[in-house]
Amino acid sequence: MRRAYPGPVSIPSLADLHARAPAQQPTWPDEAERDRVVAKLRRQPPLVFAGECDRLRDQLAEVAAGRSFLLQGGDCAETFDGVSADNVRNKLQVLLSMAVVLTYAASVPVVKVGRIAGQYAKPRSSGSETRGAVTLPAYRGDAVNGVAFDEHTRRPDPQRLLDVYNASAATLNLARAFVTGGYADLRQVHTWNTDFVRTSPVGARYEALGAEIDRALAFMDACGVNPDQLNTVDFFASHEALICDYEQPMTRIDSRTDQPYDVSGHFLWIGERTRQLDGAHVELLSRVRNPIGVKLGPTTTPDDAIALAERLDPEGEPGRLTFITRVGAQRVRDVLPPLIDKVTAAGVQVAWVCDPMHGNTFETSNGYKTREFDSIIDEVQGFFEVHRGLGTWPGGLHVELTGDDVTECIGGGGQLSALDLVSRYDSVCDPRLNRAQSLELAFLVAEMLRAA
Ligand code: PEP
Ligand code: CO
Repeated sequence: MRRAYPGPVSIPSLADLHARAPAQQPTWPDEAERDRVVAKLRRQPPLVFAGECDRLRDQLAEVAAGRSFLLQGGDCAETFDGVSADNVRNKLQVLLSMAVVLTYAASVPVVKVGRIAGQYAKPRSSGSETRGAVTLPAYRGDAVNGVAFDEHTRRPDPQRLLDVYNASAATLNLARAFVTGGYADLRQVHTWNTDFVRTSPVGARYEALGAEIDRALAFMDACGVNPDQLNTVDFFASHEALICDYEQPMTRIDSRTDQPYDVSGHFLWIGERTRQLDGAHVELLSRVRNPIGVKLGPTTTPDDAIALAERLDPEGEPGRLTFITRVGAQRVRDVLPPLIDKVTAAGVQVAWVCDPMHGNTFETSNGYKTREFDSIIDEVQGFFEVHRGLGTWPGGLHVELTGDDVTECIGGGGQLSALDLVSRYDSVCDPRLNRAQSLELAFLVAEMLRAA
């Protein structure tokens, strides 16, 4: 049953959040400047609207109920330099192509969410980085400092939070234009597949599927069926809600419902390193009405997950909570069964989503952080197997990808090797799947979905 909106909910103050000693926050050199930035952020218009967040929550309820599949993807870390029409369009192209493959090949509705328009802050395993004799603050994402290894660039600068706002606004504006302006029309499936991919084996496979879709559309047209849903898609923005000094001022009371929404993105997630039950991140997101996610790593106990669900979704509201598991290919078949089984037995209903990236990262001997395509596939395969064994629904895929032809992950149809990583490694953080690898993943997952 759908609850009416609850009574008034207050937004925790920034002082409340800081009192919880939140993990993974920058140390701003000048707090007065931080305060001025926060005050400015409070005056900025919302980037997303509460009603849109509600619509996504409804769509995620379908995922949790086993009737839809979530595709969530984008950069590990967006950069300010990356806010260009080409870059944003390429990312949307690859996501839309993957969604078409999944929808058409598996006949399951796909909820489309980008790691985009706000994914600028990164948790780090160490607060500092040493190269030779020099130790500087670690790069925490463009929201905090720059990636170049010099003292000036690595100094945390709160003005960057305003840059995040502006970069997100520009990106969202483009994304909205692309998906509603005719570009996302299903009749355009071929144009999303650019030359490079078209000439690869996976591109040829995509072209064949595109031709089938064309025939199906022509058939519908001939029958006089021409539904509006074919012209546009619902596309949503998401990021990790990491920096309290950004997310808290972007949290507002919606005038329509009197409820708090974090209007920096439609969907926010809490990372593996910041999901402490009494921590600031859980506190802030427990109060907002957006659909939210939590990353669950290999050490998560069933009790941890149940406690998180009680704290973040006490009413058991459909679509409210997504658990994104990222346990690694080696452990997925051991770690997930007791976790999912006990959480389900406790009456918790969430969308279960697989992040096959963050549990499968390693460093090559030539010093690149990378992931094997085969391990990524193996974790997804394990995720599907476990859900099949338990009779639960493998609800989605959360991936790091880009629309460009980068060489950051090893393997896939193009058989990229560790030596190839030198040729185009653009990521400022984790390695992403390139276009061909992303499409290939979509075809493989479509097969798994069909079998589910
Ligand atoms: C991420 O999604 O980029 C990330 C840091 O993930 P996790 O919190 O799962 O490590
Ligand atoms: Co990452």
